[in-house]
Amino acid sequence: MAKTLTILGIESSCDDTAAAVVRHTDGQSPEILSNEVFGQTDLHADFGGVVPEIAARAHAEKLDVMVEAALATSTLSLADIDAIAVTAGPGLIGGVMSGVMCAKGLAAGAGKPLIGVNHLAGHALTPRLTDQLEFPYLMLLVSGGHCQFLIAHSATKFQRLGGTIDDAPGEAFDKVAKLIGLPQPGGPSIEHAAKSGDAKSHKLPRPMLDRDGCDMSFSGLKTAALRARDALVTAQGGLHPQDQANLSASFQAAVTDVLAEKTRRALALYLELEPKAPAIAVAGGVAANQTIRASLQALATDHGVRFTAPPLKLCTDNAAMIAWAGMERFRLGLIDDLTLAARPRWPLDTAAPAMLGSGKKGAKA
Ligand code: KG4
Ligand code: ZN
Repeated sequence: MAKTLTILGIESSCDDTAAAVVRHTDGQSPEILSNEVFGQTDLHADFGGVVPEIAARAHAEKLDVMVEAALATSTLSLADIDAIAVTAGPGLIGGVMSGVMCAKGLAAGAGKPLIGVNHLAGHALTPRLTDQLEFPYLMLLVSGGHCQFLIAHSATKFQRLGGTIDDAPGEAFDKVAKLIGLPQPGGPSIEHAAKSGDAKSHKLPRPMLDRDGCDMSFSGLKTAALRARDALVTAQGGLHPQDQANLSASFQAAVTDVLAEKTRRALALYLELEPKAPAIAVAGGVAANQTIRASLQALATDHGVRFTAPPLKLCTDNAAMIAWAGMERFRLGLIDDLTLAARPRWPLDTAAPAMLGSGKKGAKA
């Protein structure tokens, strides 16, 4: 197989239409030649969540535009591409189908190999694209739609240690922001408000810390935040900015404590493998939160373990991660054909028990 490979990646499993070109030469750091994302947030803003039909239509309209943009930015043409990688699931079926159809058309038209990629593998392999982490490493994938601990053993073997049984943390940030009157997306609003709040002002629960293992729950925490808000509204007729700040700080501290404690447990399980270069990596939109990052960094430092968090643009949904995951599969000779199917449900670790929850964006994984 060629020493230098150039892969076009396509992503459309949720509400971002994305295309990217990644190049890698054996023994060198990979290069992201382009990374184009069209976010659909505005299209769904009036509906309080992602509307699958609107998302699918927007993907179908934007996919070729994004592919053209990704090729143009990389100053390459399809002829220069070694293979086309596309998210084949999990995700909203209409969007995934749009991406898979687009990739099949390009692959068939240009006579290029087609590679179907699991979206979660894209997130989970990102630390190898950004920091060249060696297997095995521990991954905390934490976003608006996902929350799970994985040990990445290889590009094709992921062991799920646990995950949320209901909401994803990003979803909880968004809902709590909404109920205390802060703008969407909730994560950054709550993080900002929390800076001037007192994290001890409200006693919010740390769900499931009394239970063994790495599973988590964030839905009860959201309800507790709702009760705390209602108590303030009843007592004083509304919320002052200081109340928003205090609720934000208390909520953020509760999420941080749960993630840190469950990461500590996941880390203990991972360290039993005695990895040569132990590392924890975090990915997903919630990984942008500085308080959460700092607490995970501190935990890693305490255990003498490397900590990596990719730049935000590569934490949130993007196609560079899909191109990279496709690159890893291509190097292993894992190529698909035109029968590649879109899969709305596609757990990374098929041996682990099915997750109960799904997250606001519906990816069942
Ligand atoms: O990975 P992402 O872009 O999309 C998916 O969910 O797939 O993550 C978006 C989520 C939103 O729920 C947003 O509120 C949350 O990540 N988020 C944050 C922060 N920035 C984004 N949550 C906490 N703190 C932040 N700074
Ligand atoms: Zn994602």
